[in-house]
Amino acid sequence: MTSVRPANQDFSREAIEAVLKRRFFYGPAFDIYGGVSGLYDYGPPGCALQANIVETWRKHFVLEEDMQEVDTTMLTPYEVLKTSGHVDKFSDYMCRDLATGEIFRADHLVEEVLESRLKGNLEARGQAVTPVEEDDQKKKRKKKVKEIKAVKLEDDVVDEYETILAKIDGYSGEELGEIIEKYSIVNPTTGGPLAPPVAFNLMFETAIGPSGQLKGYLRPETAQGQFLNFSKLLECNNLKMPFASASIGKSFRNEISPRSGLLRVREFLMAEIEHFVDPNNKNHPRFKTVQDLKLKFLPKDVQAAGKTDISEITIGEAVASGMVDNETLGYFLGRIYLFLLKIGVNPERLRFRQHMANEMAHYAADCWDAELHSSYGWIECVGCADRSAYDLSVHAARTKEKLVVRETLEEPIVVEAFEVELDKKKFGPKFRKDAPKIENFFVTRNQCELEDLAASLAKDLKVTVKVDGVEGDVEVEGSLVSIEKKTRKEHVREYTPNVIEPSFGIGRILYCVLEHNFWTRPEDAARGVLSFPPLVAPSKVLVVPLSNNEQFEPITQELIIDLRALGVPSKVDDSSVSIGKRYSRNDEMGTPFGVTIDFQTVKDGSITLRERDSTQQVRGSKAEIIAAIQKMIKGVSWEEGTKGLAAFVGQEQD
Ligand code: ATP
Ligand code: GLY
Repeated sequence: MTSVRPANQDFSREAIEAVLKRRFFYGPAFDIYGGVSGLYDYGPPGCALQANIVETWRKHFVLEEDMQEVDTTMLTPYEVLKTSGHVDKFSDYMCRDLATGEIFRADHLVEEVLESRLKGNLEARGQAVTPVEEDDQKKKRKKKVKEIKAVKLEDDVVDEYETILAKIDGYSGEELGEIIEKYSIVNPTTGGPLAPPVAFNLMFETAIGPSGQLKGYLRPETAQGQFLNFSKLLECNNLKMPFASASIGKSFRNEISPRSGLLRVREFLMAEIEHFVDPNNKNHPRFKTVQDLKLKFLPKDVQAAGKTDISEITIGEAVASGMVDNETLGYFLGRIYLFLLKIGVNPERLRFRQHMANEMAHYAADCWDAELHSSYGWIECVGCADRSAYDLSVHAARTKEKLVVRETLEEPIVVEAFEVELDKKKFGPKFRKDAPKIENFFVTRNQCELEDLAASLAKDLKVTVKVDGVEGDVEVEGSLVSIEKKTRKEHVREYTPNVIEPSFGIGRILYCVLEHNFWTRPEDAARGVLSFPPLVAPSKVLVVPLSNNEQFEPITQELIIDLRALGVPSKVDDSSVSIGKRYSRNDEMGTPFGVTIDFQTVKDGSITLRERDSTQQVRGSKAEIIAAIQKMIKGVSWEEGTKGLAAFVGQEQD
């Protein structure tokens, strides 16, 4: 599509926020009750935009890759999330103001204070702070934050601050506490001292059922529902590996300090993929289709050195050098990139940042985030983690259900493994009610544990162990149990797959798409335009009768019926304001095409088609214009789609 969007136009958050509010893309939930932080409602254009992004996601991933989609429950019992590690580890660090009780998310507080001190340093040295850096929200904060003062910092302090900021996502609670103390970070509003950071679990707790006995949580991710259904999904895929499951649904996190509009909320739509792969072979059959894409990478060693320099290399090079661990991870980075471009993300404002070791979630072995840049800075919008076999293994161990793949081998393999034999007749009389627990203890040991137990048995002719649910030490003599290394032929290989997980937060992506596509007409800053790709635009066509002359009514209705019958979302604006104003209103909604019906239409059936960004117009018969629209909403350019149609000048006056 021809773009007349001016290069380097200053972005105004105030201007886009006014449009988003006026057109009700989204707004605070429970607004008339004063709202609740981190909860938002989407209005009609926001809903349609979200639905189109989700639809594109489904086609790009689920259909294109033949994934197994599931819709699983949001209410999750305690046991599941205890096993997955979320009850113990899904937390952020918060610190409390000792006097007022005000709560801060520790890493965000450190980030804000150090950034503001660095800005104060620039001001003190007479170096200008650019409008993008000094965004509106920060200006507001600046009034409150006592820390922002034009104070010169020593060069080595500036270096230390910059290093901390580059590594900010990787600090433990203890390290954050040390930074807060070392750099005298206090409550920025009151100057009051803070207690050391403590972990705060982000899950919303609830009770399932009237007895209150069954503790549960609102899920923090859709992933667990996919892992728990692994065996059924493998079956749905005719037992073929590798394969992926996918799920789209709401997740909930009790964020310590929701902020930045849709970017950090407490209830959000996630779209997640769990790609199950053989741990011995993480190559991907379609890797070739993405290997030549050039992405902007920010690897972990660069961040660990306190830098943010980008390597712009192909995915093929990134995998070959080992920077991206394997082809499957690289394949998904490429597919994520293509998806984001398709829905209107600006590639200049997209980078892939690798997690540092401390930053990784408790289950992850390697992780790359697709980060998008907005006026709030860089933010993770898609996490792409290698979760290894963590989740399937812990759920299998807890439930005793085998969550594995069985692969029939063409050639049997000879394996050496420790095997346990129990003399069960002796277990009952010796251990009575504890016998089943002790038997289960032996049969569920892994090979390393069996090796140690075998060594103890050989040495002492008995083993002494601790068994869950049995009090004290349990002594088992060699006459009851034998553990020996045996050699056997196996015709079936059994393994727990590894999981590569691309996890998309739709709200964050949607907000960045809004910012990346917003601009104002140079001749009138009050005229905002949202240049969505037609694929995701909330409505595709605005039908505008020239006036309320009754001759236009049947033609308008007929056209709308035709467009809707073809599945082209369209709207009529037959209000009495000028055509220019009506188009201008719809530029704000991001409607890519406008059709005008005028007196010429009444005479010869011809109509005018207008393109949102360039405001260019062409004229043709109804059939020609509809055919052009159909092509262009599938991605064909304006030049190509309107080839052969006569240019039209006129009509668009205020
Ligand atoms: P952050 O570090 O920014 O809190 P995260 O590391 O917790 O994010 P993940 O746990 O990887 O995020 O979640 C996967 C995706 O879910 C993120 O890429 C993001 O798009 C989305 N997401 C996570 N938390 C939120 C939130 N509070 N509000 C909106 N989207 C979120
Ligand atoms: N499922 C990815 C995450 O919640 O982080």
